[in-house]
Amino acid sequence: MARDITTVGVTGLGTMGAGIVEVFARGGLQVVATEVDDAALERGRGVLARSTARAVAKGRLEQAEADALHGRVTFTTDLAGLAGCDLVVEAVPERPGLKHELFRRLDDVVAPGAVLATNTSSLSVTDIAVATAHPERVVGVHFFNPAPVQRLVEVVTTVVTDDEVRDSVRALAERLGKTPVVVGDRAGFIGNALLFGYLGHAVAMLESGRATRDDIDTAARVGLGYPMGPLALLDLIGLDTAEAILTTMYEQGRDRLHAPSPLLTELVAAGHLGRKTGRGFFVYP
Ligand code: CAA
Repeated sequence: MARDITTVGVTGLGTMGAGIVEVFARGGLQVVATEVDDAALERGRGVLARSTARAVAKGRLEQAEADALHGRVTFTTDLAGLAGCDLVVEAVPERPGLKHELFRRLDDVVAPGAVLATNTSSLSVTDIAVATAHPERVVGVHFFNPAPVQRLVEVVTTVVTDDEVRDSVRALAERLGKTPVVVGDRAGFIGNALLFGYLGHAVAMLESGRATRDDIDTAARVGLGYPMGPLALLDLIGLDTAEAILTTMYEQGRDRLHAPSPLLTELVAAGHLGRKTGRGFFVYP
């Protein structure tokens, strides 16, 4: 039996978090969006505003609907603002210490029956769950980038996740027009486990000098029917995020296809993280 979820929290308003706020608000839910400080909060608000403005300009959303959507979102830097939420989705940077501490605090802030979800793509949901006093209410809810566009949501269960929590989150994803799949807590879940061997291979191919950046991406787009090439997709995902996912998958499976290529590591060290910093494999205006 799935519970009724009407008020949700999103903590962390980077690329994924801001997109997740949009998904929930579009679906008619009340959303409390939190960040660590005012600057980060304003950045998140800006991502949401630009995305809805673009949808209005393209005729996909009426201005009145956009206004109503924004009216359903409350922004705050105070974690206590999440107290009334039925579900909180965490989308903060992929640092284990940060996530564990946040979940411990969320555990105290939200009502005893509320669901705590992580959008992590590279950390163990089980490790995050056991940082709380109630690991049975912790679940992975993994959106794909861009969250407002990609319909897949992976619902990641641990050995202790309540079946009712899993079913409630799955039902919510369906209500939002998404397609949920359920998967156990293994590095890469389903989507990234299938995708990242291919992405890692593309970087290794570039590094070997066998083909140019543009030719690798053209081959994938024009010959294989992918909407974008692997190097452009890595830039969209974020090279730091991609490196973290590859590292976790490599540590768990020891498949050399998942060993991050030195070129990827070098770009991350140089701060060229893809679209979000204006430069990765490609340069963005
Ligand atoms: N927010 C909201 N809407 C967006 C958007 C965003 N960030 N980016 C694009 N869109 C919308 C556009 O408004 C447009 O909608 P309309 O056609 O209704 O106007 C639609 O998406 C298509 O966008 P564009 O015409 O601008 O560009 P496009 O056709 O080249 O599509 C793309 C862009 C949707 C990103 C497409 O190239 C694509 O699907 N690429 C593959 C993305 C992918 O594989 N994502 C998964 C990555 S793996 C992951 O995320 C998991 C992880 O843990 C890392």
